[in-house]
Amino acid sequence: MYNSSMKDRVMVALDVDGADAALAMRDQLLDTVGWLKVGLRLFVAEGPALITQLRQSHRIFLDLKFHDIPNTVAQAIESAGGLGVQMVNVHAGGGLPMLQAASQAAKAFPEMLLIAVTVLTSDTMPKEQALKLALERAKLAKDAGLHGVVCSVHEAQHIKDVCGSDFITVTPGIRWGNQDTQDQNRIADPKMAIEQGSDYLVIGRPILQAASPAEAAKEAVAMMVEARQATA
Ligand code: C5P
Repeated sequence: MYNSSMKDRVMVALDVDGADAALAMRDQLLDTVGWLKVGLRLFVAEGPALITQLRQSHRIFLDLKFHDIPNTVAQAIESAGGLGVQMVNVHAGGGLPMLQAASQAAKAFPEMLLIAVTVLTSDTMPKEQALKLALERAKLAKDAGLHGVVCSVHEAQHIKDVCGSDFITVTPGIRWGNQDTQDQNRIADPKMAIEQGSDYLVIGRPILQAASPAEAAKEAVAMMVEARQATA
C-alpha cells in the first residue's frame, strides 16, 4: 500500500449530474489520479453502463453505502462484483450480521475491496464521540472480515492502531488552502491525511469545482508526496 504512487491513492468523487459531465471530468483526470468514485447521484442517473466506460481508464469505487437486511446487502454486493468495480462499501451501522453477509458475498470477487462507512465526515456529533463510534464500527468491520473503513483523517491513525496497519482507511472530508468546508465537518488537508495513515483520499468538490481540475488534483498529490518525504 505505502509503496503505491500517491496519484493511485486519490479517488475523485464524480458527484456530477450525468454521463456527459462524468466522462468530461474523467478525460481531464486521465493521468493525474488512479481512482474515480461513483456515488448515489451518478449511479442513480446512469447505472452500470457508465461504470463500464469509466473502468476503461480508472479503478472504480462504487460508493452506495449499502445499509439493509443481510440478504439484500449480500445480493447487492454480488451485483457490484459483477460490475467489475475495485471497491464497494456498506454502512457499518447495519450491524455485524449484515457486515458478515456482505463479507461472505464479496469472497467471490477477490479483486474487489469491501469497505464499511463508520461515521459520515459531515456528521455534527462531537469529535470524541465520532472517534469512539468510528473505532467501534471499525472493529466490527474487521471482525466481519472487511478490508477496511471509510472514516475521517482524524480517526485514521487510531483505527490503524487498533485494527492493524493493513486495515484500509479511506478518508473523505479533504480540504486545503482557503477552500470552503461546505457540508463537511471533520476535514483535513492531503498532507495531514498521509501523515495520519490514510490509504486513500476521497476528493470531490475541491477538484470538481476548481478552475483546472487536473491542476487541483496535482496540487493534492504534491502535498501527499511532501508528507511522505517528511516521514521517509
Ligand atoms: O465534495 P467532497 O470532497 O466533500 O466529497 C466527498 C465525497 O465523499 C462525497 O462523494 C461523499 O458522498 C463521500 N463521502 C463522505 N463521507 C463519508 C463517505 C463518503 O463525504 N463518510
